[in-house]
Amino acid sequence: DGDVYKYYADGEWKKSSSGKSVAIINPTTRKTQYKVQACTQEEVNKVMESAKTAQKTWAKTPLWKRAELLHKAAAILKEHKAPIAECLVKEIAKPAKDAITEVVRSGDLVSYTAEEGVRILGEGKFLVSDSFPGNERTKYCLTSKVPLGVILAIPPFNYPVNLAVSKIAPALIAGNSLVLKPPTQGAVSALHMVHCFHLAGFPKGLISCVTGKGSEIGDFLTMHPGVNCISFTGGDTGIAISKKAGMIPLQMELGGKDACIVLEDADLDLVAANIIKGGFSYSGQRCTAVKVVLVMESVADVLVEKVNEKVAKLTVGAPEDDCDITPVVSESSANFIEGLVKDAKEKGATFCQEYKRDGNLIWPLLLDNVQPDMRIAWEEPFGPVLPVIRINSIEEGIHHCNASNFGLQGCVFTKDVNKAILISDAMETGTVQINSAPARGPDHFPFQGLKESGIGSQGVTNSINMMTKIKSTVINLP
Ligand code: G3P
Repeated sequence: DGDVYKYYADGEWKKSSSGKSVAIINPTTRKTQYKVQACTQEEVNKVMESAKTAQKTWAKTPLWKRAELLHKAAAILKEHKAPIAECLVKEIAKPAKDAITEVVRSGDLVSYTAEEGVRILGEGKFLVSDSFPGNERTKYCLTSKVPLGVILAIPPFNYPVNLAVSKIAPALIAGNSLVLKPPTQGAVSALHMVHCFHLAGFPKGLISCVTGKGSEIGDFLTMHPGVNCISFTGGDTGIAISKKAGMIPLQMELGGKDACIVLEDADLDLVAANIIKGGFSYSGQRCTAVKVVLVMESVADVLVEKVNEKVAKLTVGAPEDDCDITPVVSESSANFIEGLVKDAKEKGATFCQEYKRDGNLIWPLLLDNVQPDMRIAWEEPFGPVLPVIRINSIEEGIHHCNASNFGLQGCVFTKDVNKAILISDAMETGTVQINSAPARGPDHFPFQGLKESGIGSQGVTNSINMMTKIKSTVINLP
């Protein structure tokens, strides 16, 4: 029926033979907003086959032509920002302005990747043999970067467009084909984005987008013998994927518990502003969100007061109204957040605001005097609830940060640059921000997590490199 969005394969929009669909629930209304096809394993097989075929020709397409198509797709994507943003608002309750920003940022990312690709893929290395003991100058080695084949991209709900193109663009510029499995919440935004690539005129089968139930096609996709690389962003599922995937390169980003360490000499107004931005933007549903504040006891009262003043000013409501705090993505997510809040309540945390929830909408909440025995000290709420732990030494802060299973980013606020650098070195995270909240962007910066936060490194250049392999040709002279 016409109500169900079609999936994209072989350059065409198709209905699944399953006759089934998956419902996308609007987090705000909690009613079905859209439906997408529930693709079958048979359909996944077909997509993999055409991806394999299309890649062979694409790899032989001149690099500048690949870049040209990506630039075209980027421009079309930006032209379509309004309808795509509207889907983001309906599917994932992203505030209206942030939804537009996500699409524009995505267009910029695609263009930047095309530019970067023509540079770094346009050159290789030349080595000679006589630098290694025992060799004469009789071997010349030429290296270049060659594509891996078929890349499987699995982005999360919080950036269904941006974290899809951050995988699609590097894959394509490097000469790979790409199969996208969008998150269910965000699938229609992703299909619209794929439509922009379709309009740009990429060859058939080079990019496809399969929608469906994780239980039906999830493992089938990630364990498919036709997949040569997986780029995944999301939660725990990534750990399961990394255990099941075969001998292929993996790029994984799986969340974090980013700490914000605040020293006594910090500019507390700056800290408060960054805690608000870092902890509460998109209602805390970012893997780089500030997820625990570790503040020196001597400045804690003042900081908490400053943050509370700003929390009071956050607008709470519908994403269409561009409210700061909007409903979290699903009822189960809201229930999980509530579980963490209740646990903190039972164990004696100080509630700086009253806990309030209406459906999936949770009012912003700062929890002071959080103790290590509370779940929220360690788990990521992925919601607008932020714990504050008071510390008495820098070591205590570093210890808490490093005791986490996660290691994505962290931040430290101080005017003493020497201390900041020492703390950055001591923090076991992929990135440490000095005097600003954690963030992935700008998108050409390397982005990586340690421990359960991920495998490999992202960012435009790293992703292009990760989706290629070195090929050597050695000329042997007589
Ligand atoms: O949650 C996904 C992560 O990549 C966050 O990106 O731009 O919000 O820091 P950003």
